[in-house]
Amino acid sequence: MDLENLLREDFDKIEQYLPREQPFEAGWLELNINENPYPPSRVILDEIKMAINEKLRLYPEPTGKDLRKMISSVFLVDKKTLTNPNNIFIDNGADGVLENIMKTFINPGDQIIYFYPTYGLYKTLSLIYKAKKKEIKLNDDFSIPESAYSLKGKLIFINSPNNPNGKAFSNDVILKICKYFPGIVVIDETYGDFCQTTALPLLKEFKNLIIVRTFSNSFSLASMRIGYAVANDKIIKAMNKVRLPYNVSYLGQIAAISCIKHRDLVFKQNHKIISERKRLSETLSKYNGISVEPSDANFIFVKFSDKSICLKFIWDLKEKKVLVRHISQPGLYQYMRITINTPDNNNKFLDIFDELTKKYL
Ligand SMILES: Cc1ncc(COP(=O)(O)O)c(C=O)c1O
Repeated sequence: MDLENLLREDFDKIEQYLPREQPFEAGWLELNINENPYPPSRVILDEIKMAINEKLRLYPEPTGKDLRKMISSVFLVDKKTLTNPNNIFIDNGADGVLENIMKTFINPGDQIIYFYPTYGLYKTLSLIYKAKKKEIKLNDDFSIPESAYSLKGKLIFINSPNNPNGKAFSNDVILKICKYFPGIVVIDETYGDFCQTTALPLLKEFKNLIIVRTFSNSFSLASMRIGYAVANDKIIKAMNKVRLPYNVSYLGQIAAISCIKHRDLVFKQNHKIISERKRLSETLSKYNGISVEPSDANFIFVKFSDKSICLKFIWDLKEKKVLVRHISQPGLYQYMRITINTPDNNNKFLDIFDELTKKYL
């Protein structure tokens, strides 16, 4: 068998989305991935454990009915948005939702638009689904350029708060895009629970808008792979037609429902992350030659005056078993992205960082 000849013709053109370095051994401080440093609360873990019973032999409820009800009636209720379970679609993490959007709307050759820099999966999905892709460079302050308001295409991906810089786009900006863009507008709010800004209230006005959210980061359930979309019921119906059967696990659904039930505990942990984000940003920006981008997410984007100094910091941090994210792409070489951790771990990071400033700044 000649495997090369059996692969799809454009196989070599697809750029695989590569997850970050993950040591899989104890003793590392991993600030290079935006996981929540706090485990799910004991009561949530207990509810998941209780659900490990004879039901594991059964297929899960196929549409996540109870979870959709919980999201719409409890979680979205104060967000001035659509609150019917038929406005919600559940999938395997935000990534699963994003892929399902592609499956629903994209023909080969359709125009997809996304910004630069942003989450790398939009490019990978465009390549897999043979879309034409247009990357629009964000302004130097990571705001959306004026040219974005006259764009034409089938679908635009907007990540808000945007990975890697962390800032959310205002609803004035999103509203303007929804008004003028002729296709589907996808707002990926994977980090949306770490700030007050959300485009959810715009859903009542715009039928071309899909908001994607997840339980991975703010609800500490990354391993469970639960994401959801909120949109007009016609969009949700179409997305259901092409999704894989039983796309969300039984335990995942139970875990997400439990998180919503005990959301006050979850929000308390997120408040700690938000106040630590402020502390880290203020502390790091006091050093000469270092500035910190404003962030609405659970990470901060730190700029060094010089690329080589930034790399020296990253290498030395790694020697001390601390991983931060370096995005080796044009315009981003001077930056490191740091995920906010617990106060103790953040102190550990700050102590090492301070030593390095004496060496390199
Ligand atoms: C912008 C963005 N969207 C989606 C995801 C994936 O989220 P999930 O774990 O829910 O699939 C990530 C994770 O890194 C992300 O940064």
